[in-house]
Amino acid sequence: MSAEHDEVVIRYGLRDEERPGAAKIYYEAFGGKLGVILGPPETAIPILAEGFTDGPILVAFYRGEAAGLACLRFNGEDFLSIRASTLARKFGWIESLTRLIMLRLIDQSPSEGGLLLDSIAVDGRFRSLGIGRRLIEAVFDLARNRRLTQVALQVVDTNPRAQSLYERLGFTAVRTYRVPFMRSIMGFSAYTIMTKPVRQTPLPNHTGDRPRRSDGRTG
Ligand SMILES: CC(C)(COP(=O)(O)OP(=O)(O)OC[C@H]1O[C@@H](n2cnc3c(N)ncnc32)[C@H](O)[C@@H]1OP(=O)(O)O)[C@@H](O)C(=O)NCCC(=O)NCCS
Repeated sequence: MSAEHDEVVIRYGLRDEERPGAAKIYYEAFGGKLGVILGPPETAIPILAEGFTDGPILVAFYRGEAAGLACLRFNGEDFLSIRASTLARKFGWIESLTRLIMLRLIDQSPSEGGLLLDSIAVDGRFRSLGIGRRLIEAVFDLARNRRLTQVALQVVDTNPRAQSLYERLGFTAVRTYRVPFMRSIMGFSAYTIMTKPVRQTPLPNHTGDRPRRSDGRTG
């Protein structure tokens, strides 16, 4: 079953009051690998809520409730910025350095002129309604409006369902990296880079009463 078109609204940027809910969705989706770095949910969720920037995050609302996120990097803009001092408050300076290094190890960067869809997560209650697909479409709207040339993402070998979703949406696998040492740390032993070019056709006007458009521009 798919959500009706108008049941899903996508907006660019998190409001302050939405940060804890967004952090919960993010942790629920990626806790398997993030837990190693940011600790259990009671520690990690506040760190994430503080670490989300005012920048490139698309938030999907289903019937008014925050239901999903697409977290992006492009043109030097980043959805997440976790300070060393925040980690140090929770884990002490020495341990937080190790955790920061691990965070950097799994960090990905966008190519020149490209957009990196770093992560996409839909609240478990609202999966398979088409919200993930709608978020990805909004990512392409944004990329087109910013004149970016391609969208790239990474998918791990333990997530074949996500990979098949991306394939259905026109992404192509360009390279697979084997990282067997990651299996015992984060549960996956290979990841694949997938890309899809952005077609620069003019978009129909997005109008409506949303405070910020999903392409990140105001007005
Ligand atoms: C991947 C994800 C964002 C898809 O969001 P969604 O709103 O359920 O996506 P849609 O409804 O548009 O499409 C559903 C398709 O997503 C794929 N999918 C991947 N993981 C899924 C999951 N755990 N549950 C349901 N669908 C999943 C399937 O191909 C599914 O198709 P199906 O319903 O015919 O089986 C969501 O499942 C999720 O948050 N998963 C956990 C985090 C994650 O793995 N993110 C991707 C990292 S690369």
